[in-house]
Amino acid sequence: MADKRNWGFCLTVCLASFLVAKADIKVSAPVGQLFVFELQRETFQNEFEPFLKHYGRVYNDPMVFKCNKQSFPDLPEWLRFTQRHPYDNGFLYGTPMSAGKSIIEITVINKRSYDTFRERLIINIGPRANKMPFQAEFFIKLREIEKVLPSTVQAAIKQDVMRMWETDRLEFVNITSALDRGGRVPLPLAGHYEGVYVKMGSDQYYSKCLLKLQSPDHQRQCEEGGRRETGDCAICTIPSNCITWCKSTLIDLSRPVAAPPAPSMGSGVLEAGGQYDPLDSPPTRDYFLDYIVTVLVPLVLAILLCLLLAYIMCCRREGVEKRDARTPEIQLYHHHTIHGNSSELRSMAGARGVPPPLSTLPMFNFRTGERPPPLQSDSPSIPLIMAQHEPNIDSLSRK
Ligand SMILES: *[C@@H]1O[C@H](CO)[C@@H](O)[C@H](O)[C@H]1NC(C)=O
Repeated sequence: MADKRNWGFCLTVCLASFLVAKADIKVSAPVGQLFVFELQRETFQNEFEPFLKHYGRVYNDPMVFKCNKQSFPDLPEWLRFTQRHPYDNGFLYGTPMSAGKSIIEITVINKRSYDTFRERLIINIGPRANKMPFQAEFFIKLREIEKVLPSTVQAAIKQDVMRMWETDRLEFVNITSALDRGGRVPLPLAGHYEGVYVKMGSDQYYSKCLLKLQSPDHQRQCEEGGRRETGDCAICTIPSNCITWCKSTLIDLSRPVAAPPAPSMGSGVLEAGGQYDPLDSPPTRDYFLDYIVTVLVPLVLAILLCLLLAYIMCCRREGVEKRDARTPEIQLYHHHTIHGNSSELRSMAGARGVPPPLSTLPMFNFRTGERPPPLQSDSPSIPLIMAQHEPNIDSLSRK
């Protein structure tokens, strides 16, 4: 029973979702006014999971959108797309400038299941709804484009501007991220935003308050102060919607803009006559001082340092004087003692009654040859040379 009911249920849902998927979204937009279409993840979520919704289970999948003009790789020139994050809604926005029909293909990619889903958005661009010769552009510093495009925020901004303009016949003409105007990507810190330019138009003339934007006083103050954030009559009910007064301008389209003067055409032939008179070559400059400063002074310094180093290395080397004086002495002394010792040993080998060799005496200073007064125990009973050395001495003496 339950199975059967489920099947029937599923069939109708499938059919419905199929029909929904095939149905295009149709919207209309007047020329010269801001068009915003929000791609809501929530609605596409239902397209991906048509059954789950009915079982009370709702996913919140990350989704990305790819938008292009039908059978073209990119969007029409007037339309832009933005989505900050796969968990945020996307926005198609822009200001159409000519009537017609734009068919936009929207491909939705579910980043959890990697399902894709395609939908068509048909934008019928109608004729201009109302003339808006008086336009003004405001800079909102504490906003990002995605935070301004939702209709509630737009309405709040419009309310503020209506009070400043003192009219309710007001329409959005354009909303642009400051990044598209050469702005910089802000630091990823709280309180740093890209900034948004909001252009609004009306058929009502500017209020006194807005006209202050054109006064030379205002321009001078902005140049001096640089950052005059708020004007005398700027109104913002929400602080993040506040307008930077110095970056706001009035654009009056009612007055015809004077065309730039046409370039005056010549005959196309250069006037004859005259000779080319080349310029005198510039006076010669004396480079001697520069030469001395840049070449000679460092060279002299280098030579002096070289000489100093050479003197230190060759003539004042530590140990040279001492070695000169001492080493031969030591060598001579060694030679002398070896020689003396061997002759001493020879004589000892001949006669065993001789006094012991100097080197066997305690406290013998081999450098000076100095020795302490002979010990009391110094007697013929002490062997002069260790017994194990005797054979050598014998062999020496036998030679
Ligand atoms: C809207 O702003 C964009 C980006 O700055 C610009 O390219 C476009 O021409 C503007 N459209 C109108 C109607 O001002």
